[in-house]
Amino acid sequence: MTNEQVIRVGIIGCGAGIFHLEGYSEDPRVKIVALAGLDTDRCERLGRQFDVPRIYREYQELLADNDIDAVSVVVPNSLHYPVAKAAFEAGKHVLVEKPLAGTVGDGEAMVAAAKEHGKLLGIAFQRRWRHDVQIVRDQVAAGSLGDVYYAKAYWMRRQGIPGWGSWFTNKAAAGGGPLIDLGVHVLDMALYMLGNPKIATVSASTYDRIGSQGKGNWPGTAGARTGGSSAYEVEDLATAFLRLENGGTLLLEAAWAAYTEMTDEFGVQLYGSNGGAKIHSKDYADVGTLQMFSDVAGAATDSVPRLQSRNGHAQICANFVDSILNGTPLSPDGEEGLDRVRIIDAVYRSAELGREIVLDEAFAPEKTVAD
Ligand SMILES: NC(=O)c1ccc[n+]([C@@H]2O[C@H](COP(=O)([O-])OP(=O)(O)OC[C@H]3O[C@@H](n4cnc5c(N)ncnc54)[C@H](O)[C@@H]3O)[C@@H](O)[C@H]2O)c1
Repeated sequence: MTNEQVIRVGIIGCGAGIFHLEGYSEDPRVKIVALAGLDTDRCERLGRQFDVPRIYREYQELLADNDIDAVSVVVPNSLHYPVAKAAFEAGKHVLVEKPLAGTVGDGEAMVAAAKEHGKLLGIAFQRRWRHDVQIVRDQVAAGSLGDVYYAKAYWMRRQGIPGWGSWFTNKAAAGGGPLIDLGVHVLDMALYMLGNPKIATVSASTYDRIGSQGKGNWPGTAGARTGGSSAYEVEDLATAFLRLENGGTLLLEAAWAAYTEMTDEFGVQLYGSNGGAKIHSKDYADVGTLQMFSDVAGAATDSVPRLQSRNGHAQICANFVDSILNGTPLSPDGEEGLDRVRIIDAVYRSAELGREIVLDEAFAPEKTVAD
Protein backbone atom coordinates (compact mmCIF):
# COMPACT_ATOMS: atom_id res chain seq x y z
CA MET A 1 0.00 0.00 0.00
CA THR A 2 1.33 3.42 -0.96
CA ASN A 3 -0.07 5.28 2.03
CA GLU A 4 -1.07 3.72 5.33
CA GLN A 5 -4.59 5.06 5.51
CA VAL A 6 -5.49 5.84 1.90
CA ILE A 7 -6.36 3.17 -0.63
CA ARG A 8 -5.56 4.25 -4.18
CA VAL A 9 -8.17 2.91 -6.54
CA GLY A 10 -8.46 2.52 -10.31
CA ILE A 11 -11.74 1.84 -12.09
CA ILE A 12 -11.82 -0.14 -15.33
CA GLY A 13 -14.98 0.50 -17.33
CA CYS A 14 -16.88 3.78 -17.70
CA GLY A 15 -20.49 2.57 -17.95
CA ALA A 16 -21.61 1.11 -14.60
CA GLY A 17 -18.16 2.27 -13.49
CA ILE A 18 -19.97 5.45 -12.44
CA PHE A 19 -21.56 3.53 -9.53
CA HIS A 20 -18.06 2.71 -8.26
CA LEU A 21 -16.95 6.32 -8.69
CA GLU A 22 -19.97 7.45 -6.67
CA GLY A 23 -19.45 4.68 -4.12
CA TYR A 24 -15.75 5.31 -3.46
CA SER A 25 -16.30 9.08 -3.50
CA GLU A 26 -18.23 8.76 -0.23
CA ASP A 27 -15.21 7.16 1.48
CA PRO A 28 -12.49 9.44 2.91
CA ARG A 29 -10.11 6.45 3.05
CA VAL A 30 -10.10 6.21 -0.77
CA LYS A 31 -8.47 8.24 -3.50
CA ILE A 32 -9.62 7.44 -7.02
CA VAL A 33 -6.47 7.90 -9.09
CA ALA A 34 -7.28 6.40 -12.50
CA LEU A 35 -10.00 5.35 -14.90
CA ALA A 36 -9.76 3.14 -17.99
CA GLY A 37 -12.12 2.55 -20.88
CA LEU A 38 -12.19 2.24 -24.62
CA ASP A 39 -14.91 4.89 -24.85
CA THR A 40 -12.55 7.80 -24.27
CA ASP A 41 -15.16 10.58 -24.37
CA ARG A 42 -17.30 8.96 -21.69
CA CYS A 43 -14.24 8.24 -19.52
CA GLU A 44 -12.92 11.78 -19.83
CA ARG A 45 -16.32 13.17 -18.91
CA LEU A 46 -16.42 10.98 -15.80
CA GLY A 47 -12.83 11.86 -15.02
CA ARG A 48 -13.69 15.57 -14.99
CA GLN A 49 -16.88 14.98 -12.98
CA PHE A 50 -15.05 13.00 -10.27
CA ASP A 51 -11.71 14.78 -10.49
CA VAL A 52 -9.75 11.66 -11.49
CA PRO A 53 -6.16 12.54 -12.38
CA ARG A 54 -5.31 9.81 -14.90
CA ILE A 55 -7.40 8.38 -17.77
CA TYR A 56 -6.20 5.31 -19.67
CA ARG A 57 -7.68 3.51 -22.63
CA GLU A 58 -6.74 -0.19 -22.27
CA TYR A 59 -6.98 -1.90 -18.89
CA GLN A 60 -3.37 -3.09 -19.20
CA GLU A 61 -2.19 0.53 -19.10
CA LEU A 62 -4.06 1.16 -15.86
CA LEU A 63 -2.75 -2.05 -14.29
CA ALA A 64 0.83 -1.05 -15.11
CA ASP A 65 0.32 2.00 -12.85
CA ASN A 66 2.19 1.12 -9.65
CA ASP A 67 0.40 3.89 -7.78
CA ILE A 68 -2.79 1.78 -7.53
CA ASP A 69 -3.65 -0.62 -4.68
CA ALA A 70 -7.06 -1.88 -5.82
CA VAL A 71 -9.23 -1.89 -8.92
CA SER A 72 -12.91 -2.13 -9.74
CA VAL A 73 -13.51 -4.29 -12.80
CA VAL A 74 -16.61 -2.99 -14.59
CA VAL A 75 -16.29 -4.41 -18.10
CA PRO A 76 -18.35 -6.90 -20.13
CA ASN A 77 -18.77 -10.23 -18.31
CA SER A 78 -16.39 -12.33 -20.43
CA LEU A 79 -13.58 -9.84 -19.63
CA HIS A 80 -14.00 -10.14 -15.85
CA TYR A 81 -11.61 -13.08 -15.65
CA PRO A 82 -8.77 -11.85 -17.91
CA VAL A 83 -8.86 -8.37 -16.36
CA ALA A 84 -9.05 -9.68 -12.77
CA LYS A 85 -6.25 -12.19 -13.41
CA ALA A 86 -4.01 -9.46 -14.84
CA ALA A 87 -4.89 -7.24 -11.86
CA PHE A 88 -3.91 -9.92 -9.33
CA GLU A 89 -0.66 -10.48 -11.24
CA ALA A 90 -0.04 -6.72 -11.00
CA GLY A 91 -0.51 -6.95 -7.21
CA LYS A 92 -3.94 -5.25 -6.94
CA HIS A 93 -7.01 -6.21 -4.94
CA VAL A 94 -10.10 -6.66 -7.14
CA LEU A 95 -13.73 -5.65 -6.75
CA VAL A 96 -15.53 -7.12 -9.75
CA GLU A 97 -19.02 -6.36 -11.02
CA LYS A 98 -21.65 -9.07 -11.08
CA PRO A 99 -21.78 -11.77 -12.33
CA LEU A 100 -18.41 -12.94 -11.03
CA ALA A 101 -17.68 -14.40 -14.47
CA GLY A 102 -19.45 -15.50 -17.62
CA THR A 103 -18.52 -19.18 -17.11
CA VAL A 104 -17.86 -21.53 -14.19
CA GLY A 105 -14.32 -22.17 -15.47
CA ASP A 106 -13.50 -18.44 -15.49
CA GLY A 107 -15.05 -18.00 -12.04
CA GLU A 108 -13.03 -20.87 -10.58
CA ALA A 109 -9.84 -19.50 -12.12
CA MET A 110 -10.57 -16.04 -10.64
CA VAL A 111 -11.04 -17.39 -7.14
CA ALA A 112 -7.85 -19.46 -7.53
CA ALA A 113 -5.87 -16.47 -8.85
CA ALA A 114 -6.94 -14.32 -5.88
CA LYS A 115 -5.72 -17.02 -3.48
CA GLU A 116 -2.49 -17.57 -5.39
CA HIS A 117 -1.60 -13.88 -5.23
CA GLY A 118 -2.93 -13.33 -1.70
CA LYS A 119 -5.33 -10.59 -2.83
CA LEU A 120 -8.99 -9.85 -2.11
CA LEU A 121 -11.75 -10.65 -4.58
CA GLY A 122 -14.99 -8.81 -3.87
CA ILE A 123 -18.12 -8.78 -6.01
CA ALA A 124 -20.75 -6.09 -6.44
CA PHE A 125 -23.98 -7.75 -5.36
CA GLN A 126 -24.89 -4.40 -3.89
CA ARG A 127 -28.54 -5.30 -3.34
CA ARG A 128 -27.73 -7.54 -0.38
CA TRP A 129 -26.83 -4.33 1.50
CA ARG A 130 -30.36 -2.91 1.07
CA HIS A 131 -32.05 -2.17 4.38
CA ASP A 132 -34.99 -4.48 3.55
CA VAL A 133 -32.65 -7.38 2.73
CA GLN A 134 -30.63 -6.83 5.91
CA ILE A 135 -33.79 -6.85 8.04
CA VAL A 136 -35.11 -10.05 6.49
CA ARG A 137 -31.73 -11.75 6.72
CA ASP A 138 -31.50 -10.89 10.43
CA GLN A 139 -35.07 -12.10 11.02
CA VAL A 140 -34.36 -15.40 9.26
CA ALA A 141 -31.09 -15.86 11.19
CA ALA A 142 -32.88 -15.10 14.48
CA GLY A 143 -35.48 -17.79 13.66
CA SER A 144 -38.39 -15.32 13.68
CA LEU A 145 -39.86 -16.77 10.49
CA GLY A 146 -39.46 -20.36 11.72
CA ASP A 147 -38.40 -22.83 9.05
CA VAL A 148 -38.34 -21.01 5.71
CA TYR A 149 -39.39 -23.68 3.26
CA TYR A 150 -40.33 -21.78 0.11
CA ALA A 151 -38.97 -18.70 -1.65
CA LYS A 152 -39.70 -16.80 -4.83
CA ALA A 153 -37.17 -14.48 -6.47
CA TYR A 154 -37.84 -12.54 -9.64
CA TRP A 155 -36.77 -9.61 -11.78
CA MET A 156 -39.16 -8.80 -14.58
CA ARG A 157 -38.99 -6.06 -17.18
CA ARG A 158 -41.56 -5.18 -19.79
CA GLN A 159 -39.08 -3.68 -22.30
CA GLY A 160 -35.62 -3.86 -20.77
CA ILE A 161 -33.08 -5.51 -23.06
CA PRO A 162 -30.00 -3.45 -22.12
CA GLY A 163 -28.82 -2.77 -25.67
CA TRP A 164 -30.15 -5.11 -28.37
CA GLY A 165 -27.16 -6.23 -30.49
CA SER A 166 -24.57 -5.01 -27.94
CA TRP A 167 -22.29 -7.26 -25.86
CA PHE A 168 -25.26 -7.85 -23.52
CA THR A 169 -27.06 -9.93 -26.18
CA ASN A 170 -23.90 -11.71 -27.36
CA LYS A 171 -23.65 -15.14 -25.69
CA ALA A 172 -19.85 -15.27 -25.68
CA ALA A 173 -19.44 -11.77 -24.23
CA ALA A 174 -22.24 -11.89 -21.66
CA GLY A 175 -22.54 -15.60 -20.83
CA GLY A 176 -26.34 -15.33 -21.05
CA GLY A 177 -29.27 -12.94 -20.91
CA PRO A 178 -31.50 -11.66 -18.10
CA LEU A 179 -30.75 -14.67 -15.91
CA ILE A 180 -27.04 -13.88 -15.62
CA ASP A 181 -27.68 -10.12 -15.70
CA LEU A 182 -30.69 -9.61 -13.39
CA GLY A 183 -31.57 -13.06 -12.07
CA VAL A 184 -28.15 -13.33 -10.46
CA HIS A 185 -28.95 -10.27 -8.27
CA VAL A 186 -32.19 -11.71 -6.87
CA LEU A 187 -30.65 -15.18 -6.59
CA ASP A 188 -27.95 -13.63 -4.41
CA MET A 189 -30.54 -11.69 -2.36
CA ALA A 190 -32.59 -14.84 -1.75
CA LEU A 191 -29.66 -17.13 -0.89
CA TYR A 192 -28.08 -14.47 1.31
CA MET A 193 -31.31 -13.99 3.27
CA LEU A 194 -31.71 -17.77 3.57
CA GLY A 195 -28.18 -18.17 4.98
CA ASN A 196 -26.61 -19.63 1.81
CA PRO A 197 -28.35 -23.02 1.64
CA LYS A 198 -26.97 -25.59 -0.78
CA ILE A 199 -28.86 -26.29 -3.99
CA ALA A 200 -29.67 -29.95 -4.71
CA THR A 201 -31.37 -29.81 -8.12
CA VAL A 202 -32.35 -27.32 -10.80
CA SER A 203 -35.12 -27.61 -13.39
CA ALA A 204 -35.36 -24.71 -15.82
CA SER A 205 -36.50 -23.38 -19.17
CA THR A 206 -35.40 -20.34 -21.14
CA TYR A 207 -37.13 -18.47 -23.98
CA ASP A 208 -36.21 -15.82 -26.54
CA ARG A 209 -39.62 -15.10 -27.99
CA ILE A 210 -39.45 -11.30 -27.87
CA GLY A 211 -35.78 -10.39 -28.28
CA SER A 212 -35.54 -12.66 -31.28
CA GLN A 213 -38.22 -10.55 -33.00
CA GLY A 214 -36.06 -7.44 -32.53
CA LYS A 215 -38.45 -6.17 -29.85
CA GLY A 216 -38.07 -5.41 -26.15
CA ASN A 217 -35.15 -2.99 -26.19
CA TRP A 218 -34.81 -0.74 -23.15
CA PRO A 219 -35.79 2.72 -24.39
CA GLY A 220 -32.64 4.82 -24.74
CA THR A 221 -30.13 1.98 -24.94
CA ALA A 222 -30.02 1.68 -28.73
CA GLY A 223 -26.45 2.49 -29.79
CA ALA A 224 -25.35 3.27 -26.22
CA ARG A 225 -23.34 0.08 -25.95
CA THR A 226 -21.06 -1.71 -28.36
CA GLY A 227 -18.96 -4.83 -28.56
CA GLY A 228 -21.73 -7.18 -29.63
CA SER A 229 -22.61 -9.08 -32.74
CA SER A 230 -25.68 -7.14 -33.82
CA ALA A 231 -27.70 -10.25 -33.13
CA TYR A 232 -29.85 -11.62 -30.34
CA GLU A 233 -28.15 -14.76 -29.02
CA VAL A 234 -29.41 -15.06 -25.43
CA GLU A 235 -32.69 -15.74 -23.62
CA ASP A 236 -35.17 -12.95 -22.86
CA LEU A 237 -36.90 -14.94 -20.09
CA ALA A 238 -35.68 -17.68 -17.78
CA THR A 239 -37.67 -19.64 -15.21
CA ALA A 240 -36.13 -22.12 -12.79
CA PHE A 241 -37.24 -24.34 -9.94
CA LEU A 242 -34.48 -25.06 -7.43
CA ARG A 243 -34.67 -27.73 -4.74
CA LEU A 244 -32.54 -26.98 -1.71
CA GLU A 245 -30.71 -29.69 0.21
CA ASN A 246 -32.63 -28.65 3.34
CA GLY A 247 -35.92 -29.61 1.65
CA GLY A 248 -36.91 -26.06 0.75
CA THR A 249 -37.56 -24.78 -2.75
CA LEU A 250 -36.83 -21.58 -4.64
CA LEU A 251 -38.60 -20.33 -7.74
CA LEU A 252 -36.49 -17.98 -9.85
CA GLU A 253 -37.70 -15.83 -12.77
CA ALA A 254 -35.84 -13.25 -14.81
CA ALA A 255 -36.93 -11.39 -17.94
CA TRP A 256 -35.60 -8.45 -19.90
CA ALA A 257 -38.76 -8.37 -21.97
CA ALA A 258 -42.17 -9.88 -21.24
CA TYR A 259 -45.80 -8.91 -21.66
CA THR A 260 -46.54 -8.22 -18.01
CA GLU A 261 -47.86 -5.38 -15.85
CA MET A 262 -44.36 -4.99 -14.40
CA THR A 263 -42.08 -2.33 -15.86
CA ASP A 264 -38.76 -2.97 -14.12
CA GLU A 265 -39.50 -4.77 -10.86
CA PHE A 266 -37.73 -7.26 -8.67
CA GLY A 267 -38.38 -8.97 -5.42
CA VAL A 268 -37.98 -11.91 -3.11
CA GLN A 269 -40.70 -13.50 -1.03
CA LEU A 270 -40.00 -15.96 1.78
CA TYR A 271 -42.50 -18.35 3.31
CA GLY A 272 -41.70 -19.74 6.76
CA SER A 273 -43.48 -21.89 9.34
CA ASN A 274 -43.88 -18.91 11.71
CA GLY A 275 -43.77 -15.92 9.42
CA GLY A 276 -43.11 -14.55 5.99
CA ALA A 277 -41.46 -11.61 4.26
CA LYS A 278 -42.00 -9.92 0.94
CA ILE A 279 -39.61 -7.49 -0.73
CA HIS A 280 -40.94 -5.90 -3.90
CA SER A 281 -39.10 -3.04 -5.60
CA LYS A 282 -40.52 -1.14 -8.56
CA ASP A 283 -38.10 0.97 -10.59
CA TYR A 284 -35.29 0.47 -8.05
CA ALA A 285 -37.19 1.77 -5.00
CA ASP A 286 -35.51 0.87 -1.71
CA VAL A 287 -37.99 2.27 0.80
CA GLY A 288 -41.59 1.15 1.28
CA THR A 289 -40.57 -2.18 -0.21
CA LEU A 290 -40.86 -4.63 2.70
CA GLN A 291 -43.83 -6.37 4.27
CA MET A 292 -43.52 -8.88 7.10
CA PHE A 293 -46.22 -11.41 7.90
CA SER A 294 -46.78 -12.93 11.33
CA ASP A 295 -49.49 -13.68 13.93
CA VAL A 296 -50.29 -11.50 16.91
CA ALA A 297 -52.48 -13.24 19.49
CA GLY A 298 -53.55 -15.61 16.75
CA ALA A 299 -54.55 -12.83 14.34
CA ALA A 300 -52.86 -12.60 10.94
CA THR A 301 -50.66 -9.50 11.12
CA ASP A 302 -48.88 -7.59 8.37
CA SER A 303 -46.21 -5.06 9.27
CA VAL A 304 -44.29 -2.55 7.20
CA PRO A 305 -40.85 -1.66 8.62
CA ARG A 306 -39.68 1.91 8.02
CA LEU A 307 -36.64 1.65 5.78
CA GLN A 308 -33.59 3.79 5.19
CA SER A 309 -32.42 4.44 1.65
CA ARG A 310 -28.86 3.27 1.08
CA ASN A 311 -26.36 3.58 -1.76
CA GLY A 312 -25.60 -0.09 -2.42
CA HIS A 313 -22.33 0.51 -4.25
CA ALA A 314 -21.13 2.80 -1.46
CA GLN A 315 -21.77 -0.07 0.97
CA ILE A 316 -19.96 -2.55 -1.30
CA CYS A 317 -17.00 -0.20 -1.79
CA ALA A 318 -16.80 0.54 1.97
CA ASN A 319 -16.85 -3.18 2.80
CA PHE A 320 -14.09 -3.79 0.22
CA VAL A 321 -11.96 -0.99 1.71
CA ASP A 322 -12.66 -2.21 5.28
CA SER A 323 -11.50 -5.62 4.20
CA ILE A 324 -8.25 -4.27 2.72
CA LEU A 325 -7.49 -2.06 5.71
CA ASN A 326 -8.82 -4.07 8.64
CA GLY A 327 -9.41 -7.62 7.42
CA THR A 328 -13.20 -7.27 7.75
CA PRO A 329 -14.83 -10.24 5.96
CA LEU A 330 -16.03 -9.43 2.45
CA SER A 331 -19.77 -9.66 1.89
CA PRO A 332 -20.17 -11.02 -0.67
CA ASP A 333 -16.85 -12.69 -1.39
CA GLY A 334 -15.55 -14.36 -4.53
CA GLU A 335 -16.64 -17.83 -3.35
CA GLU A 336 -20.24 -16.65 -3.10
CA GLY A 337 -19.93 -15.09 -6.53
CA LEU A 338 -18.69 -18.44 -7.84
CA ASP A 339 -21.53 -20.28 -6.13
CA ARG A 340 -24.05 -18.08 -7.98
CA VAL A 341 -22.26 -18.64 -11.31
CA ARG A 342 -22.45 -22.41 -10.78
CA ILE A 343 -26.18 -22.20 -10.15
CA ILE A 344 -26.72 -20.00 -13.20
CA ASP A 345 -24.71 -22.47 -15.27
CA ALA A 346 -26.88 -25.34 -13.98
CA VAL A 347 -30.01 -23.37 -14.92
CA TYR A 348 -28.76 -22.90 -18.49
CA ARG A 349 -27.74 -26.57 -18.69
CA SER A 350 -31.10 -27.76 -17.44
CA ALA A 351 -32.86 -25.54 -19.99
CA GLU A 352 -30.65 -26.85 -22.77
CA LEU A 353 -31.11 -30.50 -21.80
CA GLY A 354 -34.81 -30.06 -21.05
CA ARG A 355 -34.51 -31.89 -17.73
CA GLU A 356 -33.53 -31.59 -14.11
CA ILE A 357 -29.86 -31.14 -13.17
CA VAL A 358 -28.44 -32.55 -9.95
CA LEU A 359 -25.67 -30.59 -8.27
CA ASP A 360 -23.40 -32.38 -5.84
CA GLU A 361 -22.65 -30.95 -2.43
CA ALA A 362 -19.67 -28.97 -3.67
CA PHE A 363 -21.76 -27.66 -6.59
CA ALA A 364 -19.35 -29.11 -9.12
CA PRO A 365 -19.22 -30.99 -11.29
CA GLU A 366 -22.93 -31.00 -11.98
CA LYS A 367 -24.53 -34.27 -13.01
CA THR A 368 -27.75 -34.92 -14.84
CA VAL A 369 -30.31 -37.22 -13.22
CA ALA A 370 -29.45 -39.80 -15.88
CA ASP A 371 -25.78 -39.99 -14.76
N1 LIG B 1 -24.30 -4.07 -10.12
C1 LIG B 1 -25.11 -3.48 -10.99
O1 LIG B 1 -26.20 -3.06 -10.63
C2 LIG B 1 -24.69 -3.34 -12.43
C3 LIG B 1 -25.38 -2.46 -13.27
C4 LIG B 1 -24.95 -2.37 -14.61
C5 LIG B 1 -23.88 -3.14 -15.07
N2 LIG B 1 -23.25 -3.99 -14.21
C6 LIG B 1 -22.12 -4.82 -14.67
O2 LIG B 1 -21.05 -3.97 -15.05
C7 LIG B 1 -20.32 -4.56 -16.12
C8 LIG B 1 -20.22 -3.56 -17.28
O3 LIG B 1 -21.55 -3.26 -17.73
P1 LIG B 1 -21.88 -1.81 -18.34
O4 LIG B 1 -23.35 -1.69 -18.32
O5 LIG B 1 -21.07 -0.79 -17.68
O6 LIG B 1 -21.37 -2.03 -19.84
P2 LIG B 1 -20.93 -0.88 -20.87
O7 LIG B 1 -20.86 -1.52 -22.20
O8 LIG B 1 -21.79 0.33 -20.66
O9 LIG B 1 -19.45 -0.45 -20.39
C9 LIG B 1 -18.37 -1.35 -20.48
C10 LIG B 1 -17.08 -0.59 -20.24
O10 LIG B 1 -15.97 -1.50 -20.33
C11 LIG B 1 -14.96 -0.87 -21.09
N3 LIG B 1 -14.01 -1.84 -21.69
C12 LIG B 1 -14.28 -2.86 -22.52
N4 LIG B 1 -13.13 -3.45 -22.89
C13 LIG B 1 -12.11 -2.79 -22.27
C14 LIG B 1 -10.68 -2.88 -22.27
N5 LIG B 1 -10.04 -3.80 -23.01
N6 LIG B 1 -9.93 -2.00 -21.53
C15 LIG B 1 -10.57 -1.05 -20.81
N7 LIG B 1 -11.92 -0.90 -20.78
C16 LIG B 1 -12.68 -1.76 -21.50
C17 LIG B 1 -15.73 -0.12 -22.16
O11 LIG B 1 -14.91 0.83 -22.81
C18 LIG B 1 -16.82 0.51 -21.29
O12 LIG B 1 -16.34 1.67 -20.66
C19 LIG B 1 -21.05 -5.85 -16.49
O13 LIG B 1 -20.41 -6.93 -15.85
C20 LIG B 1 -22.45 -5.65 -15.90
O14 LIG B 1 -23.05 -6.87 -15.52
C21 LIG B 1 -23.64 -4.09 -12.91
